Amino acid sequence: MSAKKKNIISKASPHTIKKFELIEEYIKSWAQKLLLTESCNGLIFIDCMCNSGVYTDDAGQLVKGTAVRVSEALREASRTYTEKNIHIYLNDKDKARVDELKKHLPQDERNFKIVTSCGDAHELLRTIGPQLYGTGHLHYFLLYDPYDATIDWEALLPFFRNWGEVMINHMVSDPVRAITSAKKKTTKAKYENTYLEDFEKLVPYGSDKKAYEARVEEIINSLKGARRYYVSAFPFYNTQNSLVYNLIHCTSNKEGFKLYKKSAWKVFGAQSSTKHSVENRQLSFNLFGEIAEEEDESCLYVIDIAKYLQRSFRGRKQVPLDEMWELLDNHPFFPSEGFRNEVKSDLTDFFGAKIEQIVNPDTGKKETVISFSS
Ligand SMILES: C[S@@+](CC[C@H](N)C(=O)[O-])C[C@H]1O[C@@H](n2cnc3c(N)ncnc32)[C@H](O)[C@@H]1O
Repeated sequence: MSAKKKNIISKASPHTIKKFELIEEYIKSWAQKLLLTESCNGLIFIDCMCNSGVYTDDAGQLVKGTAVRVSEALREASRTYTEKNIHIYLNDKDKARVDELKKHLPQDERNFKIVTSCGDAHELLRTIGPQLYGTGHLHYFLLYDPYDATIDWEALLPFFRNWGEVMINHMVSDPVRAITSAKKKTTKAKYENTYLEDFEKLVPYGSDKKAYEARVEEIINSLKGARRYYVSAFPFYNTQNSLVYNLIHCTSNKEGFKLYKKSAWKVFGAQSSTKHSVENRQLSFNLFGEIAEEEDESCLYVIDIAKYLQRSFRGRKQVPLDEMWELLDNHPFFPSEGFRNEVKSDLTDFFGAKIEQIVNPDTGKKETVISFSS
């Protein structure tokens, strides 16, 4: 590969390839769900900082990025749902990257169209955003994926207020690493704009990643308007187990929230992050017969879902399974779907729960219930 081409095509580390996989997985199921809905007559996907569409992995092999994966997946969907329209907008400020990207995209079809552009993402969002008001059920998905901790909330506002979803890459490693040494006016302004706080007030956050995460969550909360809103964030760790970024999914649709959690756990291999776990995580019991193993908040497993359910339902008898899954539906990062058999097995094998079929005395119907140990 020539040196020039190498510059255009960036390297993607393993955790970033996981990000591509997660967005692809999510978009496939999001599209499937929406296109099956009669009231939805089309989808719009926007990656306003899309890069060149292809990357090289650690072994020097070419790998597809989000723009190409999503375009291919949605082209397939458009062939199945021929009466629905799919539009994709791909933008990057770097012309050479957009030119490279174009070589890897599928062709337009009657109901499938890709629009590429080269410019500032925020200008693009400021053009599209205001057009969303009053468009009713226009189903869009916006990916906002910069290389650093930039977030322009004003440009994002219309996307939070209308009928669609927003995914933000919060590059939390940026302030954690650099805020205390920031000297340049423009760098300080970047942090002030992202965290909507005076720089002097941000400096004490220092390397406390939780403080930045909480601030971003607070801002999303204030932008979402009056309706019920669901936010779920998954952390991405590099091969040295350092946190690089959080991929935050924001939606007013509970099904989307559930799908995102399910997709993340699936792509991470039945865990809540890309962190490389300590081998042989052993379970032990404390004096009270409770499972005493320290959980690692940054990477949770199916056993931690079972532990959470045991804590929530301790001692309760004959709880309908649906009530248990409903509790997980609302959890910020535990999935309620995709791992049900594993969760049930962990509950019975490690926490002494009993699952049985009963006839509901009120409805006369058979149902599966679970009794938890006390
Ligand atoms: C992390 S990469 C995007 C990766 C891409 N979303 C993917 O998953 O394959 C960040 C890209 O954002 C572009 N970028 C950064 N700031 C931008 C801006 N203000 N407007 C447009 N593009 C921008 C950079 O040129 C770079 O290609």
